[in-house]
Amino acid sequence: MNHPRSSNGDEADRPNLNNLNANIRDEKTPRSTAPTNNDNTTITVVASNSNKIPYGQYQIDIYFQALTAGKKPVTTTDPNKLEQQAREAMSPQGFNYVFGGAGEQATMHANRLAFRQWKVIPRMLRDTLPRNLSVKLFGKTYDSPILMAPIGVQSAYHPDAETGVAKACAALNVPFIYSTASSTPLEEIVAALEDTGGPSPPSPETEEPAPPAPADDPATAASASASAEGKDPGPARLPTSSASTLVPDPKPSRWFQLYWPLDDDITASLLSRARVAGCEVLVVTLDTFTMAWRPLDLDTGFLPFAVGEGNALGFSDSVFRQKFSDKFSTGENEAQVEDNIIAASRYWAGEVFSGHAHKWEDLATLRKLWGDRPIVLKGVLSVEDAVLAARSGVDGIIVSNHGGRQLDGAVPSLEMLPEIIDAVGDRLTVMFDSGIRTGVDVLKALALGAKAVLVGRPVIYGLGIAGTEGAKHVLASLLADVDQSMGLLGVQTVGELNRSMLRKISYGGDVKTSL
Ligand SMILES: Cc1cc2nc3c(=O)[nH]c(=O)nc-3n(C[C@H](O)[C@H](O)[C@H](O)COP(=O)(O)O)c2cc1C
Repeated sequence: MNHPRSSNGDEADRPNLNNLNANIRDEKTPRSTAPTNNDNTTITVVASNSNKIPYGQYQIDIYFQALTAGKKPVTTTDPNKLEQQAREAMSPQGFNYVFGGAGEQATMHANRLAFRQWKVIPRMLRDTLPRNLSVKLFGKTYDSPILMAPIGVQSAYHPDAETGVAKACAALNVPFIYSTASSTPLEEIVAALEDTGGPSPPSPETEEPAPPAPADDPATAASASASAEGKDPGPARLPTSSASTLVPDPKPSRWFQLYWPLDDDITASLLSRARVAGCEVLVVTLDTFTMAWRPLDLDTGFLPFAVGEGNALGFSDSVFRQKFSDKFSTGENEAQVEDNIIAASRYWAGEVFSGHAHKWEDLATLRKLWGDRPIVLKGVLSVEDAVLAARSGVDGIIVSNHGGRQLDGAVPSLEMLPEIIDAVGDRLTVMFDSGIRTGVDVLKALALGAKAVLVGRPVIYGLGIAGTEGAKHVLASLLADVDQSMGLLGVQTVGELNRSMLRKISYGGDVKTSL
């Protein structure tokens, strides 16, 4: 039986990612060989000319590290246990800030229940290898449909902060969305990525020569599973580390998220910096012009922005600094941000969380300042606003309720996604966030019509538990889960996902869930 290596026609679009791919065998470029211990079959780890990133390989790596080195993953791989692990590892205030939702957290819980109320319908006896997770957004091909959500104040969760998460994203070719509320200036992150001479590969890593495989090791399982899926696996192979399979893009992709200041001069300065820093897309968050009622932070009096944390973008901005100085200098005393953090924090928060929403017509100003690069509105939940967004000339929207952190009682993002896709999906690039925890969650959102999804809290829990490595591990795990779940669902490319693969169930959803 002949099994073609790839049936995807978009090879030319993809970045040059020469890597090892355990799913594909290329005898011309053997990497290493070792005998098995149960027969004399040669186990061959082979290089491939395929340019696909084998995200699913990370699953094999985890087993391999456990079996050969007794190493456990840096965080749990169970999405329902991650939160508890983070609670134990992080400072109470830092954890609460990430974990907490607004009000009684009704929307936060509803986001998860909404996912539980959609089920996927897998198809069998289909060739699903090699998988292609890539998606095209605004004319550019990205290796997977996952983006890192903008998350503020990352120094509150781990000293690696935004730079650590940006490095984790770069190692996996996941676009990093820089938040206006970051605790690290944008330029510092860009410089850190350049300093490392490019991103490092994901853990767990191994440079050791491959040892013989036990009879029931995951490599054998991988071969068996390849056979079961209709692919000739060739001779048994040892798993390779993703460390050697991923070649990250030398120019990691970054987007810029704007909390929209009242003062157009400050907005212009921020956007100009974002353009210079190479941010490809502007994400304008609409749902957070003021902070919601957040009991966990209120009860502990945690408001980082009031004391200078999460204000790094503003405090490093020359226009903001000049305006602060003009406003607060007295006589011979020239006011500097560093000399009066509380006043500077109040001034900055008054700009970005002023309580005043901008208006639809103000988007014209952003277009003028940002030029012709894509603009995406984050926080759209109604069909009416999606239609207004399409009319306003922006390029995309993110259907999001901010992970249930803003208006408590707001509808789950997933609930609105199909209607919004039906209304504007042919005019706007519609993306999604709020509640993504597993690979199948990603597939459900894509099958409902989203072009890509943003992942938030889980990666930050990874950061809180184990810094850069933890964030990288959580992202790599989610990508592996997406990859494997696509195969089990019976699809090879993201473009094949559609609503016929979903069923909305009429009972109340599963009870045991990571609420
Ligand atoms: C701790 C935390 C900080 C956040 N900061 C921002 C931010 O600065 N800008 C923004 O647009 N969204 C922010 N968000 C919202 C996320 O971008 C995203 O919409 C949300 O995390 C999705 O929900 P989920 O993580 O539960 O899936 C934040 C979310 C969390 C949990």
